[in-house]
Amino acid sequence: MTMFGGVGGLVLAAGKGVRMYSETPKVLRTILGEPMLSYVLCACASVCEDRIHVVVGYGAEKVRQAFPEREGRFVVQDRQLGTGHALATALPFLVAAGYEHVMVLNGDMPLLSKDILAGFVAEAMDVQADVAFVSIELDHPGSYGRVVRASGGVSIVEAKDYDVSRHGAATGEINAGIYLLRLSVAQKLVPLLRNENQSGEFYITDLVEMTTQSGGVVAAINRGRDAALLGVNSPRELSLAEETLRAGLVDALYDQGVLVRNPGQVRVGPRVAIAPGVEMTGPCELYGDTVVGEGAKVGSHVWMRDCNLAPGCEILPFSHLDGAQVGPLCKVGPFARLRAGAVLCEDARVGNFVEVKKSGLGRGVKAGHLTYLGDADVGAGTNVGAGTITCNYDGKNKHATVIGEKVFIGSNTSLVAPVTIGADALIGAGSVITHDVPDGALAVARGRQSNIARKTRAS
Ligand code: UD1
Ligand code: CA
Repeated sequence: MTMFGGVGGLVLAAGKGVRMYSETPKVLRTILGEPMLSYVLCACASVCEDRIHVVVGYGAEKVRQAFPEREGRFVVQDRQLGTGHALATALPFLVAAGYEHVMVLNGDMPLLSKDILAGFVAEAMDVQADVAFVSIELDHPGSYGRVVRASGGVSIVEAKDYDVSRHGAATGEINAGIYLLRLSVAQKLVPLLRNENQSGEFYITDLVEMTTQSGGVVAAINRGRDAALLGVNSPRELSLAEETLRAGLVDALYDQGVLVRNPGQVRVGPRVAIAPGVEMTGPCELYGDTVVGEGAKVGSHVWMRDCNLAPGCEILPFSHLDGAQVGPLCKVGPFARLRAGAVLCEDARVGNFVEVKKSGLGRGVKAGHLTYLGDADVGAGTNVGAGTITCNYDGKNKHATVIGEKVFIGSNTSLVAPVTIGADALIGAGSVITHDVPDGALAVARGRQSNIARKTRAS
């Protein structure tokens, strides 16, 4: 239960974000590996819990696919005719949901926090506002809507429509893009929105003046220079927002007892969990729902996503891990690559230029150098020699390689899958293994060496 039970959320995310110069919808551009929209939704949920609708339009399919758990709460705005039109499109759904108030957020504000939104809504409720919005102060108001406080009341004038002779010199107070609307008032006024302005768009911001004119209560809640209220409209702003979040997340790691060396170049996503006593050295990047257990070490130039590192393991520099599980006390790298489905049991060792994909390595397995293990199951204590390749792909299908416990695979061996190597087997270096090898057997599959005399200057 929260104090905001009757407040629904609406996130406006239908725009393309023209000033980002990208075909990807702006709200899907990532910040520390997560789409920008996920930050906004997370902040919104702190007030509205699961009562959140999202307006999508440009790239709607992609946005929906990125948030499958929200299916059923998307409102499609087929043509992006402005923020007021986006609200109008969503209004029937908000009314049907029975909300008393709706908090509307632009989808391009990744720095929003629970405190900002809860504080704003509480304050707006306190003064019983029909329409409330957050304003901030900027030295260079740029493309933001200007807040005009005149004797007749407050209004928001979009940058393109701002006319000094009519509106007076701009003050630097701008509209952040966060609103609290009493739904009954929105229902009355939204149908009256007009698009007679420089952009030819329906502006949600016109509701402010319209509310005053119809005798309602408007609250413009000024938050000074809070940078967390800035939107992302350009690549520069995206990069700045990302840097702000990054620095905050790294700082929080210190409080959790993590040792971060070269902190300025450590990038950690918001869902990453790092245990106390972990030591990490930048530059390194950890994204997705990566979990790093106590006492693990992450070296420099490591990139990682959706990985689970058990306590005490060590990832040496220049390793790339995506969707891997690394057991306790394992050593990975330098220059190792663990791909999706790589599972390393306790004390396994994966060295330089070894790639592991969809393969399980038992306890104490060693694959030290220049190896590819794909669709393989490697038994405990097995030693995989340098240059071993599981030939898992026949051009059409993938096949499995099963290697028993305590096998010794000589260097430069090709294991042509599907193939099974029995426990305690020994494979001679340079073999191309195409048939199963029984337990304990020595398999050699290579041309025999013949030394042939020849004429040289010495003879
Ligand atoms: C808007 C505000 C401006 C404010 C600024 C803060 C209006 C008219 N202006 O301007 O006062 O200072 O935000 O960043 O609202 N969107 C839709 N459907 C549309 C158009 C936009 O869903 O038809 C979404 C966008 O995806 C975006 C948000 O609404 O997330 C804001 O749109 P944007 O084009 O960025 O508005 P600004 O021009 O920045
Ligand atoms: Ca914007």
